[in-house]
Amino acid sequence: MGPLVFVAGARPNLMKIAPMLRELERRGARDVLLVHTGQHYDFEMSGVFFQQLGIREPDAHLQIGSGSHGEQTGRIMIGFEAFLAGLPTPPRAVVVVGDVNSTMACTLVASKRHVPVVHVEAGLRSFDRAMPEEINRLVTDAIADQLLVSEPAGMVNLAAEGVAAARVHYVGNVMIDSLVQQLPAARALGMPARHGATPGQYAVVTLHRPSNVDDPARLAELVRFLQRVAAAMPTVFPVHPRTDKQLTAHGLRGALERPGLTLTAPLGYQEFVGLMADARVVVSDSGGIQEETSYLGVPCITLRANTERPVTVERGTNVLVGDDFDAAWRVVEDVLAGRGKRGGPIDGWDGRAAERVVDLLLAPAAGGAA
Ligand code: UD1
Repeated sequence: MGPLVFVAGARPNLMKIAPMLRELERRGARDVLLVHTGQHYDFEMSGVFFQQLGIREPDAHLQIGSGSHGEQTGRIMIGFEAFLAGLPTPPRAVVVVGDVNSTMACTLVASKRHVPVVHVEAGLRSFDRAMPEEINRLVTDAIADQLLVSEPAGMVNLAAEGVAAARVHYVGNVMIDSLVQQLPAARALGMPARHGATPGQYAVVTLHRPSNVDDPARLAELVRFLQRVAAAMPTVFPVHPRTDKQLTAHGLRGALERPGLTLTAPLGYQEFVGLMADARVVVSDSGGIQEETSYLGVPCITLRANTERPVTVERGTNVLVGDDFDAAWRVVEDVLAGRGKRGGPIDGWDGRAAERVVDLLLAPAAGGAA
């Protein structure tokens, strides 16, 4: 029987694969391979996550790098097909996570080679096909063999799409496993003090979605909003490379260089979690941060009109504000008045999702023990 092949490509994949690889190792599973497509390649976007999350060296690095969607997806497909073709035996399964271009590209390649695909974090839908991730999610779930779901809406969406129940399993959230595991080390770093802030008294910002940062008018509005937040409380903004390029290209970076606002390079996992865990409020357009803040009980303002993670709004701490900056400001005022959302527990977000995934991966029906 061939190996179990894990794929990671971009930053948000790394905190999802880490707990599954650790659990497989703990159970003594052999013949597990890790492929890094290289969609993200900077140390800050990739290497530091391997270090801090204890992910071993990849068995193959495809070194794809950046490009347009077509170029990047195509290069990943060519590279991953060559990797699979070079294996002495076909994999027992390919495991992909999340919704980035690497997820979809490797799913396409594996299924055309009749290799079973397991998608972890399946069933999420924003119902917004302008988002590249939504296309990736739809394509991946349409052809993956086993769909492992992280939140209740995923079960509803897959059922509505007519997916056979036998392909779908609710396992909970593997990204929360990493959070639970790394939180003590993250808190021990004393991140608020490093940025001159008091725990519980500052804001953290992240932004990278094309819909927010690639349109100069929208980006300028965002900058004005961030100035307003920073006037109300110290604000730390680790800047994603895409955002950094756009801020610089449109001459907006200077407007953010002001007292109360700290711009940093992208942070390591522990550094970011350490900062987020004690924040008064988080302002973001990320997918994963909606979930992490919900788990941590930190109010989150999501600068998007929709979310593929509705449980974070229904049960967690998330508020969607779309492009309504008055609404966003009202949330800031609520938070300052001590009326921020606190959230409650979510089924399967318990630090043990990887155990449930590995139970399925090693079950005889999925190809037997490694
Ligand atoms: C990708 C994912 C997105 C995820 C995000 C997290 C897709 C379609 N998008 O978006 O779902 O939320 O990662 O970060 O897969 N760059 C660097 N160094 C790097 C990587 C990228 O400088 O290590 C720059 C490049 O100029 C690149 C740009 O950032 O063009 C964007 O990178 P890309 O991988 O295309 O998409 P992200 O915006 O990071």
